[in-house]
Amino acid sequence: MAVKITARPNGPYIVEGDIDLYDPTGAKVDTGGRPAVALCRCGGSVAKPFCDGTHSKIGFKGAEAAVAQSKK
Ligand code: FES
Repeated sequence: MAVKITARPNGPYIVEGDIDLYDPTGAKVDTGGRPAVALCRCGGSVAKPFCDGTHSKIGFKGAEAAVAQSKK
């Protein structure tokens, strides 16, 4: 299955599919074999890289639309 990433309105990125997730040190993060994970997009989670719901408490406002990257 291809990996699917969806930005939830004012919330996390939902990542679906078979992924390997690593922290900044290169250590593999246990995703518990879940078919989908919610990754924090607001920066407020205390369970990073996972969303813990803090985005709703801090009033995070995410972009409403994706902006295409230009090739450099
Ligand atoms: S997106 Fe949910 S805690 Fe950051």
